[in-house]
Amino acid sequence: MLSIEGDKMTNTLAFVSIKGGVGKTTLALETASALVNDFGKKVLLVDANFSAPNIGLYLDLTNEVTLHDALFGVGLHNAIYESHGIDIVPASMDYQDEVDVFKLKKILNKFKPRYDFIIIDSSPNYEELKPVIAAADKIFIVTSPDHVTLTTSLKAAKLAREQETPVEGMIVNKIRSPRHEFNLNEIENISEVPVMARIRDHKNMAIALHHKTPITVHDRENIVSKEIRKFASAICGEPEKPSGFFQRFLPFRGFVHKDEVNREMLRKKFYESQL
Ligand SMILES: Nc1ncnc2c1ncn2[C@@H]1O[C@H](COP(=O)(O)OP(=O)(O)OP(=O)(O)O)[C@@H](O)[C@H]1O
Ligand SMILES: [Mg+2]
Repeated sequence: MLSIEGDKMTNTLAFVSIKGGVGKTTLALETASALVNDFGKKVLLVDANFSAPNIGLYLDLTNEVTLHDALFGVGLHNAIYESHGIDIVPASMDYQDEVDVFKLKKILNKFKPRYDFIIIDSSPNYEELKPVIAAADKIFIVTSPDHVTLTTSLKAAKLAREQETPVEGMIVNKIRSPRHEFNLNEIENISEVPVMARIRDHKNMAIALHHKTPITVHDRENIVSKEIRKFASAICGEPEKPSGFFQRFLPFRGFVHKDEVNREMLRKKFYESQL
């Protein structure tokens, strides 16, 4: 628990990219799930993809009251649904009334004392991203390792810097053919953002989606689940467990992946924020 005399130092983290389909919703959901189910944290997951929300569909949630209603003036507590231990605020697919999306920050700030982390999923739409970046304490950029996606994703980093919200790291998702894709050093050199996790394109994601269950719950030993756990461990300052036989011994041979070093820095920042 992060309580300091009853006042929790919640982090509000947003997963962003200006490219659709890169895995923002998947990674926001899976990170929330790992923080809750592997590290015992209390997490509020908010679907702030205002025009094409997906979290409700991923988890088969009813969404009678949504984030849109909260932005319209209904108390946010009415829009919180529990799934796999995560408190979730879905959004509406077809809200009729105009809402002020810039109220997001104010609404979420009220709920900070109740949670260890608030995680925001976002839209790839540039204008819809602005209120999300404004509401977040830190941004994680989601990209895949190809020049088209990376170039587009960088626009989100630029927007975050313009809004003075720190870009904490990048998650490289859907790695398919490393020989034909950017490697970690290339991505960091181009983006100037540290890579915090490398996640393969894995067919079992389709199975988890089919079961409407996070892969970190449905298939815990899957390589994607293990990578997400490592990333989540760094966010909440927990030590990283080596995920396989080779990894267990590689550090002793002086070989450590750059993303592991970056996660260690993230972990350190977490400790420092608690002082
Ligand atoms: N590592 C992965 N391996 C395989 N499939 C993945 C992976 N990550 C995400 N997917 C799949 O890719 C699709 C798009 O993912 P997701 O909905 O998370 O993207 P998004 O960035 O949120 O999209 P949008 O911009 O439309 O909101 C989904 O079917 C999801 O299951
Ligand atoms: Mg999405």
